Amino acid sequence: MSALKQGHGQWSSRMGFMLAAVGSAVGLGNIWKFPYMVGQSGGAAFVAVYLICIAMIGLPIIVAEWMIGRRGQKNPINTMADLAEANGRSKGWVMVGVSGTLAGFLILSFYSVIGGWALSYLIDAVSGGFTGMDKDAAGAAFSGMLGNPGSLTIWHTAFMVLTAGVVAMGVAGGLERASKILMPALGVLLALMVGYGAASSGFGQALEYLFAPDFSKLTGEVVLAALGHAFFTLSLGMGVMIAYGSYLGEKVDLLRAARTVAIMDTVIALAAGLAIFPIVFANGLDPAAGPGLIFVTLPLVFGQVTGGVILAGMFFLLLTFAALTSAISLLEPSVELLQERTPLGRVGATLLASAVIWALGIAALLSFNVWSDVLIFGNNIFDLLDKLTSKFLLPLTALGAVLFVGWCLDRDSVRDELNLSSGGFALWNLVVRFVAPIGVLVVFVSSL
Ligand code: PHE
Repeated sequence: MSALKQGHGQWSSRMGFMLAAVGSAVGLGNIWKFPYMVGQSGGAAFVAVYLICIAMIGLPIIVAEWMIGRRGQKNPINTMADLAEANGRSKGWVMVGVSGTLAGFLILSFYSVIGGWALSYLIDAVSGGFTGMDKDAAGAAFSGMLGNPGSLTIWHTAFMVLTAGVVAMGVAGGLERASKILMPALGVLLALMVGYGAASSGFGQALEYLFAPDFSKLTGEVVLAALGHAFFTLSLGMGVMIAYGSYLGEKVDLLRAARTVAIMDTVIALAAGLAIFPIVFANGLDPAAGPGLIFVTLPLVFGQVTGGVILAGMFFLLLTFAALTSAISLLEPSVELLQERTPLGRVGATLLASAVIWALGIAALLSFNVWSDVLIFGNNIFDLLDKLTSKFLLPLTALGAVLFVGWCLDRDSVRDELNLSSGGFALWNLVVRFVAPIGVLVVFVSSL
């Protein structure tokens, strides 16, 4: 393993690293996307496939990305260049770092727009804005927000400022410290919401919906959606986990840490389902409402029930925390790159990266209103950014990372680093050389 680069940030503790990694993994994907995907893709059948994807493909790729980062101790691009050279491989492997860093950068531009929605709903929630809303009013509030470029810009800007503020404070002082505060708070809020759900009349139905699989609903499309989501939710394929690995010391057991992150991420996604679906069922609403599930369906309920203001405030605070700890991780690879490759310091690098991402985010949010007719290859800018990243950059980066670890790194050093028995190592090799790459390829090819 290379010696630590002078001045390169480091996590201050294993716990801090774990919380930051879980903070990255747990985001809008868990609280917003997972529940509505479950709703649209056949409930528990989707959940079952998703769990298999996490274990067979997600887990080995987290380990691969951390291992690359920890060995390189630099930003993802330089790390890949160094490792390719040290292992006598083609310089072309640097593309893994390039596409990962680019993916994180592009994703943050529209992730921040949605983070802005969360902030805006948080303020609405605590100021009693949902009270007495009916179905039409809830739908109109959401489309009204999307149709207003001015307010979208304000909230996107506010979210980006929060994100940059944390990242500017550094790895231990910013990313780690924020995760140490926000993640436990998120856990408490979520537990309270699940408690509320458990006490409601919809809980039994929600349990059945999430955990009693109806495999007749399982189609190829559902499997693909589950696999794609497994990537997104574990923050894979965007340089994030490579960057987080680059701040990691030699003592951390990567397999154990990856298992913990995967379990926590999954538990939190399921808990989000157990917080949201009981409310949906108890009020006779449609669980398959799609992306509007938490922005239209939930506010409607919050506006009706007693204690709705508190409940709504808790929910959107939870959502904001989840989004923020993911957004900071998306910014990190670009900042690490600028810091190491330009004369800029941490603060300057953060400002520059966030300013460009912010500007791109403006283009993304305008696609909901004034630029809604601006179509590139038939997609508006927001959808284009989403598709470009999730369909191309993410799978390609993840594929490259896992193939590099499986086929290019020296076998003995990998085995030592993972501390595996010979049986365990054989299984590891099977998974990183074949199972995970083939899984990723299947998603990649079929989504084209
Ligand atoms: N994993 C985050 C989520 O589930 C999203 C994310 C993707 C964050 C990539 C960082 C990097 O919302």
